[in-house]
Amino acid sequence: MGSKDESNSKSHNQVVVIMVPFPAQGHLNQLLHMSCLILSHNIPVHYVGTSTHNRQATIRVQGWDQNFISKIHFHHFNVPPFDSPPPNPNSESKFPSHLIPSFEASSHLREHVKELMQSLSPVFKRVVVIHDSLMASVVQDAANIENVENYTFHSTCAFTVFSFFWEKMGKPPLQTSHILQFPSLEGCFIPQIIDFIAAQKEFLKLNDGNIYNTSRAIESTYMELIEKITCSKKHWAVGPFNPLTIEKKDSKGRHSCIEWLDKKEPNSVIYVSFGTTTTLVEEQIQQIAIGLEQSKKNFIWVLRDADKGDIFEGNEVKRHELPKGFEESVKEMGLIVRDWAPQLEILNHPSTGGFTSHCGWNSCLESISMGVPIAAWPMHSDQPRNSVLIAQVLKVGLVVKEWDKRHELVTALDIENVVRRLLETKEGDEMRQKALNLKNDIHKSMDEGGVSRKEMDSFIDHITR
Ligand SMILES: *[C@@H]1O[C@H](CO)[C@@H](O)[C@H](O)[C@H]1NC(C)=O
Ligand SMILES: *[C@@H]1O[C@H](CO)[C@@H](O)[C@H](O)[C@H]1NC(C)=O
Repeated sequence: MGSKDESNSKSHNQVVVIMVPFPAQGHLNQLLHMSCLILSHNIPVHYVGTSTHNRQATIRVQGWDQNFISKIHFHHFNVPPFDSPPPNPNSESKFPSHLIPSFEASSHLREHVKELMQSLSPVFKRVVVIHDSLMASVVQDAANIENVENYTFHSTCAFTVFSFFWEKMGKPPLQTSHILQFPSLEGCFIPQIIDFIAAQKEFLKLNDGNIYNTSRAIESTYMELIEKITCSKKHWAVGPFNPLTIEKKDSKGRHSCIEWLDKKEPNSVIYVSFGTTTTLVEEQIQQIAIGLEQSKKNFIWVLRDADKGDIFEGNEVKRHELPKGFEESVKEMGLIVRDWAPQLEILNHPSTGGFTSHCGWNSCLESISMGVPIAAWPMHSDQPRNSVLIAQVLKVGLVVKEWDKRHELVTALDIENVVRRLLETKEGDEMRQKALNLKNDIHKSMDEGGVSRKEMDSFIDHITR
């Protein structure tokens, strides 16, 4: 570390950060990245969770050195044992209801977090708690400890957060020409998670500020709308801060799909993945297979079920059957990955020309910051609204399935058409060009003097003031 860091370290030593993530992959991942960013300013970071979720976050992290990660103080707290059933592809809603027991178990972190705050409070001038918006109740005891401040981390886009805030406030009139039409929340959540969210509400009303994993380079209008309706609250858009340049590994360290991509033409491959919380019915899997084959385009398809609440428990991974002879007949053009795929590296690869995605915010952000347009197929939660941002606001994608039609099967023909539109039409090229422009804007926003960099610095200045 250079001398600049040393001269700053005195004031920084007076501040400590506690991260309280929500135990689902997309959330664990973001707060782990945020931890690394804060740590790189020489501020000590404590990351709390159950041992299984801490382990999940660290083994799957991409783009940060494990040596660096090991400087984070991980607290593996015990919670009562929870059920970790397999996902149910046939449930009415696509929301991963099988994760509810693990969500509920983590509400037992409250006592542990309280003790941690109490132990750090006398040692530091200020204890800064950054909690996922879904974990507000776990940090509620912060209110009674004098030098503790609490910041809410929103792990979805400003567009969707704005829509939630605005609807909750009864849609006050706004003078804006921007899109204020949002898909219905029907089918996005299930009653248990609605209750879980309701239990956070009371503790979300007051906080010391909000952090968003987005960049004003792409969402300034919706950040400004949030600022307008919440009046004076502090909001920092510090994202994306994913590693934007990926160092080339030697062939030993590389995933076989990257070698495979190396042999393909630029923009000739569609990447298909529905993230860590989606489980499709067999019939839908068959249609995707047929559609991809009929498109005659190259593809990488991550075919896996949603994570379980405890990803390490039991290893009987369900193996989906594909149409007879499928894998053989697509051998040249298609690669099926049944496990964990290096998504950032795939999106960063010049051969990748499009992404068929569930539109989880991590996937959207990764795709945009790698300049790859999206075929949006939202499944649950914030995804239907994120897909509006992608297709209608930013215009870097098209919609595979409108939210109103969520109960319908997407046919092989639909899939074939979408893949072709993205990879071989002028429309697709235009979206790719827009995505590349956004990629540039995002990269600029993270350079010295860029908007995201400035907001991160302003947040650090604020907590170390
Ligand atoms: C969070 O901060 C606000 C503003 O300082 C305070 O009123 C509130 O009680 C705090 N809440 C918690 C849970 O610490
Ligand atoms: C924001 O999300 C992206 C995409 O998943 C991730 O790579 C990045 O590290 C996140 N940034 C922060 C500050 O959490």
